[in-house]
Amino acid sequence: MAHLHVVHGGVRAREGQLEVIAHADVGYSVLEIEDMFAPAQLPWLERCGGAAMLVCMSPTIDRLYGERIRGAFAGALPAGRVHYLTVQTTEAHKTLESAVRVCEAARQAQLDRNGMLVAIGGGITLDLVGFAASLYRRGIRFVKVPTTVVGQVDVAVGIKTGVNAAGAKNLLGTYYPAYLAINDRQFLRTLPARELRCGLAEVIKMGVVCDGEIFEALDAISEPLGRARAGERDALLACLEPAVMTRAMLRMMEQLQPNLFEADLERLVDFGHTFSMSIETGSDFAYAHGEAVAIDMALSACISHQLGLLPAAELARLLALLARLGLRTFDREHCALDAMWAALREAEVHRGQRINLVVPRRLGEGVFLRQLAELPRAVLARAIAQLDELSRCAPPGDPAELADAPGLGDRREARDPRAVGGPARAPRSLR
Ligand SMILES: NC(=O)c1ccc[n+]([C@@H]2O[C@H](COP(=O)([O-])OP(=O)(O)OC[C@H]3O[C@@H](n4cnc5c(N)ncnc54)[C@H](O)[C@@H]3O)[C@@H](O)[C@H]2O)c1
Repeated sequence: MAHLHVVHGGVRAREGQLEVIAHADVGYSVLEIEDMFAPAQLPWLERCGGAAMLVCMSPTIDRLYGERIRGAFAGALPAGRVHYLTVQTTEAHKTLESAVRVCEAARQAQLDRNGMLVAIGGGITLDLVGFAASLYRRGIRFVKVPTTVVGQVDVAVGIKTGVNAAGAKNLLGTYYPAYLAINDRQFLRTLPARELRCGLAEVIKMGVVCDGEIFEALDAISEPLGRARAGERDALLACLEPAVMTRAMLRMMEQLQPNLFEADLERLVDFGHTFSMSIETGSDFAYAHGEAVAIDMALSACISHQLGLLPAAELARLLALLARLGLRTFDREHCALDAMWAALREAEVHRGQRINLVVPRRLGEGVFLRQLAELPRAVLARAIAQLDELSRCAPPGDPAELADAPGLGDRREARDPRAVGGPARAPRSLR
């Protein structure tokens, strides 16, 4: 249950200056409830105290779960207290205009300051509805029910909301804790393999830069699956062991808690989130967020290797795990040197004139490249070329195959950056 209160402080006047001091107490929790809409599991709804609600769902969630969700609310709340809205869930719909439409619907449903917005869906639905909740009547309570792995391991545990604007992802947003966040694994059963993979990328991220045991666990669980079953839904679901997911969420929360409002722009959880924005937007969102994160992690790991930090064998293990789970590690068209360099410059603007690029020093420990000067353009070019080469050996089921691959043996050899761009290919539609 979120709390966002002023706990103490005061007002004072001194030397021609009037001052307000307000110390706030901020906190929130994520409930893990299996089958949250089953009658026996509904006590969470009592925590909402009978507030009027606008429940926002994506069309997919409505189709798969709408009847059950409506039935549960109808059985627990008086008629007329719950209203429903379908929100579209593509990045193109994650806009200020869509947020305004959510606010309009909230007004039509006569939600007052005690009202509540409920978002049930993936990260897009949560970001959009959370953003609207933080604006509507200057902020009303918001319940988030993530139905994707990304939503559960990443969006649920933090307090960020946002929409895309001016061609940039999440350019507009707020820090706004949900009143309740509820993770229900039942939802994951209907996710397509692609979405499971995207979520696994975020779990791998935590393993690579924060907690080597998460990486080891995923590696061990996925290893027997081998190449043959890579990408199969059931196999991917099996990789999402509850203990591994909870551990990834805890590590994420530990990283977020001291820096909830991101005053400190050095964030380990930004691993995989520097080049990925460019890959996502450059592909016109043909790449899903998690897929772009996977490529970014692979490139960042190559940069680390090129700088003499990450050993070859560990780079090979990371690339092998990503490939085994069916995650692509390179795209020549969207990882061209100029685009990746521009992404670094963009990160520099976003992160207070520092790139703060997170790279793994070993599997389980991330370090920062803070200044652009720490990453010469030639090193970036070599990393891209290396990744291109290694990814062409893919799909790498066996890390040993990769460790022997030419790209890993000759990392100090200067490579021609012009080789990186390659011939233009027709745009692919991945979604
Ligand atoms: N606020 C944060 O801290 C934060 C963190 C990470 C990502 N994000 C944002 O989240 C978004 C990505 O979220 P996402 O990966 O969840 O993608 P998404 O919201 O696009 O959902 C993916 C797809 O899965 C479908 N879907 C959702 N749940 C389903 C289910 N249970 N069964 C079947 N289909 C289902 C959706 O309809 C959608 O088509 C991005 O916009 C990203 O910027 C925000």
